[in-house]
Amino acid sequence: MAALLTVSRCCRRSQIRRFSTALRGLERAGPGGRSSVSGLTVTIFGATGFVGRYVVNRMGRMGSQIVLPFRCDEHDTRHLRVMGDLGQIYFRPYHLLDIDRIRDLVKYSNVVVNLVGRDYETSNFSYYDLHVLGAARIAQACKDMEVERLVHFSAYNASYSSPSPFMVSKKQGEDTVREIFPDVTILKPSDIYGLEDRFLMYYAGISKYIKIVPLIKMGKHVHKIPIFVSDVASAVEKCVVDRDTMGRTYYLCGPEKYLYYDLVDYIFRCVNRPFRPFSIPQSIFNIFGLMNELWPFYRYVTRDKITRMTLSEDFHTDKLGIKDLGVEATKFSDVAVRFLRHYRKFEGSVDPIDEIGPLHKAKA
Ligand SMILES: NC(=O)c1ccc[n+]([C@@H]2O[C@H](COP(=O)([O-])OP(=O)(O)OC[C@H]3O[C@@H](n4cnc5c(N)ncnc54)[C@H](OP(=O)(O)O)[C@@H]3O)[C@@H](O)[C@H]2O)c1
Repeated sequence: MAALLTVSRCCRRSQIRRFSTALRGLERAGPGGRSSVSGLTVTIFGATGFVGRYVVNRMGRMGSQIVLPFRCDEHDTRHLRVMGDLGQIYFRPYHLLDIDRIRDLVKYSNVVVNLVGRDYETSNFSYYDLHVLGAARIAQACKDMEVERLVHFSAYNASYSSPSPFMVSKKQGEDTVREIFPDVTILKPSDIYGLEDRFLMYYAGISKYIKIVPLIKMGKHVHKIPIFVSDVASAVEKCVVDRDTMGRTYYLCGPEKYLYYDLVDYIFRCVNRPFRPFSIPQSIFNIFGLMNELWPFYRYVTRDKITRMTLSEDFHTDKLGIKDLGVEATKFSDVAVRFLRHYRKFEGSVDPIDEIGPLHKAKA
């Protein structure tokens, strides 16, 4: 009986494979655009997050069929519904650690993008669960269902020697995924900014409520190379269509490096509020982080996030970068004010945006 069951399961799996292989190779049709057929069926994990909405839009815009696994309330995915042509986006609930469900979600896709991640740990999911176990399940399911391409998101400063548990888990995740699915394309973005980010909006948000800004060592020893979210989406688009990116790792960062102090100063200038920084020792800042970690809802500052604020980002000229994907990275000062001016006081929101003053580049 057990042998019979195993045989029937194997037959079912091979049937599914034959069926899905037939579906995967849809002919390209149309001039390109939402109502065309790109020939791609893409499953995007973590689409409900910040970067997800931009990636889904790019995939929809080229006429792909999109499978969107989600774990939240159905209404949290509403904004994604309009990003593809009618009937081209399929929403499916799932659990990240349920590999059978994940196999179901990727079995008809030729491309899978994994954007799952979280800035803080919760009582249900540790960094290890998300960035290593979850990523491994997705990679394993892709391997089992013979998915052609996998694009996995890590982080710019991911390293085993990092003082940040987030960065260590991202590095572990990268290596685990590469071991299971050697052809994976790994993208390692620096701090990503955009309308819904957690970088600009953190400072712009607190600028309304606090008179003085706590910065570790005044932010004068840390450099950042933030990248625009649209550039990250362009990089994903390129990875999805270009087979040469298979098996490679790309470090995605902006074109200019800035001192952390200068960046925060610029953000305050954009929102038209006085910038009064004060130097706070990391140990004291960590107490705020710890208090915020006990908060059951969204955690704006955690001890790990504070550690990540102190990690400098440097250009890696010896590694593949965003230029190798044919994407021209946008300058921070060219676009940041577009999002930040919404945080100005009502009378200030009509002030001209060219009176902000320059944002100085740090030495390379
Ligand atoms: N934003 C940055 O500055 C930055 C920088 C470097 C690297 N990255 C990496 O880039 C990727 C995308 O970043 P992002 O800013 O878009 O992240 P995000 O806004 O935090 O979104 C993360 C996504 O992961 C999903 N997720 C989190 N925990 C989950 C769980 N336990 N089970 C299933 N899904 C879960 C979220 O779903 P829910 O909506 O249901 O919570 C959401 O869709 C992440 O891997 C992130 O670590 C981001």
